Amino acid sequence: MRFPPAFLDEIRDRVPISSVIGQRVAWDRKKTNASRGDYWACCPFHGEKSPSFHCEDKKGRYHCFGCSVSGDHFKFLTELDGMSFPEAVEKIADMAGVPMPVRDEQEERREKERASLTDVMEMATAFFQERLQGPEGAKARAYLRERGLTSATQQSFRLGYAPDSRNALKEHLAAKGVPKADIEACGLVRHGDDIPVSYDWFRDRIMFPIPDSRGKIIAFGGRALAPDALAKYMNSPDTELFHKGNVLYNFARARKALAKGGTVIAVEGYMDVIALAQAGFENAVAPLGTALTENQLELLWRMAPEPVLCFDGDKAGLKAAWRAADLALPSVQAGRSASFALLPEGKDPDDLVKAEGPDAFRAVLADARPLVDLLWMRETAGGVFDTPERRAELGKTLRELTSRIRDESTRYHYQQEMREREQSFFGSQRGPRQGRHDGGRPGERGQGKAPGGQFAKGASGRIAITESLGQSALVKRGEGMSVREATIIVALVNHPPLIDENFAHVEFLDLANADLKKLHAAILDAMAHDAADERGAVIATIERAGCGGIWGRAVELIKRARQWPALETAALEDARDAFNQALHLQRSARTLHRELKQAQAALDADPSDENFRHLIEIQAQFNDVQATEALIEGFGVSSGRVGRV
Ligand code: UTP
Ligand code: MN
Repeated sequence: MRFPPAFLDEIRDRVPISSVIGQRVAWDRKKTNASRGDYWACCPFHGEKSPSFHCEDKKGRYHCFGCSVSGDHFKFLTELDGMSFPEAVEKIADMAGVPMPVRDEQEERREKERASLTDVMEMATAFFQERLQGPEGAKARAYLRERGLTSATQQSFRLGYAPDSRNALKEHLAAKGVPKADIEACGLVRHGDDIPVSYDWFRDRIMFPIPDSRGKIIAFGGRALAPDALAKYMNSPDTELFHKGNVLYNFARARKALAKGGTVIAVEGYMDVIALAQAGFENAVAPLGTALTENQLELLWRMAPEPVLCFDGDKAGLKAAWRAADLALPSVQAGRSASFALLPEGKDPDDLVKAEGPDAFRAVLADARPLVDLLWMRETAGGVFDTPERRAELGKTLRELTSRIRDESTRYHYQQEMREREQSFFGSQRGPRQGRHDGGRPGERGQGKAPGGQFAKGASGRIAITESLGQSALVKRGEGMSVREATIIVALVNHPPLIDENFAHVEFLDLANADLKKLHAAILDAMAHDAADERGAVIATIERAGCGGIWGRAVELIKRARQWPALETAALEDARDAFNQALHLQRSARTLHRELKQAQAALDADPSDENFRHLIEIQAQFNDVQATEALIEGFGVSSGRVGRV
């Protein structure tokens, strides 16, 4: 039977470990200090002449410095006396004068039931695996191959195929003598009062068996093969064995892999976990189709003190990251934190390692930011803190946030850190001094990223928005090259068919950076001389214009920002995607910028409430875009998608 942990703790606390061990050894009188509960003896586990075996009542543990055995009351009795665990418990309970707990027969019966259900799940797993190899599995095998999973990977994750049949599994299990009730209890069929004949839960799906922490299969995820299936993924329903919020896919294997070092990585999907494992990251886990739960976070912390949580690098991904940050915050303490990594937009880890290899994912991990950064960025990005009231409000928000931390000492340090960040943030906002307001990683992302934006007072006493915007990340003019603008130009030069395809846009491209404007002029020049359909000819034109150095810098920037699709080596389709995305962002940001300037001009000419409201409205839109972009840009990995205007 299983003993409640509280019971074991209680009897262990009541019985000094020295009184258990003292029955088997003679204490060394010289080294022992009984009044401090500190005992020494010759080790009973290995023969020795001078005492190197030590036990301490306060800790309730023993340790031998000679043969390095160690343990508690129960371990001593089971290892030295060869007692079974229940016998050891009984003996200690007896010494403690505490009655043994009564056997909970109901609980024991349930345990037996669970054991028989895991047997059924094992049979189902084997069935799906076999079917994947059989004739009906051909389509599924082709699919998995096309997705790049080797057969070794498929086998090690025990992937399978559920045939397109209403009763293949049901009949298979019944023929093996599995009672109907067990098949139902495993969630392998749909059944119920309104269903006259139960039928297989999973049909025509790739099957992902979900193991528990000991590796026993407790549920399945199934991916539809038919593109028009109602749900792309379907999971087993919750059962006696499986509670979806308490399980992480790949928990057992990831925990094992952690023995080799590294931290655990939480990603979104089954395929991500598997593709990562195949690419050498065996320490990834995933929740099962829901946002991370508190229990799953606990599981992550059981594996590693600082799990990396991976999210998509778009607005939805950021929201999910914030949600996870809010979930984690109350529980953070020494040895329990999290860091956050954003993937390039529109790519999951599976796509990324497949397209760009393990290094690309390693780079995403290297850009992970600690929880405190994420919170700071969320509260400050895109905000304007130009009055004492607004700064006070930020302070209040941050205090409210940090007050949720339950651990006193961690709370104190978070509060202190936030105060320091506020000080250097506002310090740098007032003067030209640049603080560590972007979360404290200087240098690598270039200048100009100022969560919170810059501020200045206009003559009217209202915010001089054009001025503040002029400083902001999104509309920075004339200063450094933006990744977004560089992407547009570099993609055009490296992939001249894009010039032809986007003739009108290219002609009227509205760029902020003076250097890139020169490259743009060279491209126009090449177009005018019919030299724009070949990369070499465009580059020759650039060089003739004396812009070779600028070109080199633009390419450097693109590489640093890991905006690979714009490079010469990328496929045209990828370059086209990157180009279109950058162009689209560029156009909307520039439009917004122009509208803001007009609104500001209108307000300056006529300081009516209506004009003020209009300005505020556009500014709100703008802040929203800017905040998201500044945040995403805070993660170096995604700077390529959201460069500055
Ligand atoms: P995604 O839609 O991101 O799919 O769902 P994916 O994992 O990248 O799968 P592929 O690459 O298209 O094959 C992420 C996770 O969300 C859950 C699943 O757990 C999936 O792994 N999910 C998704 C569902 O539960 N149901 C769905 O319909 C879709
Ligand atoms: Mn995917």
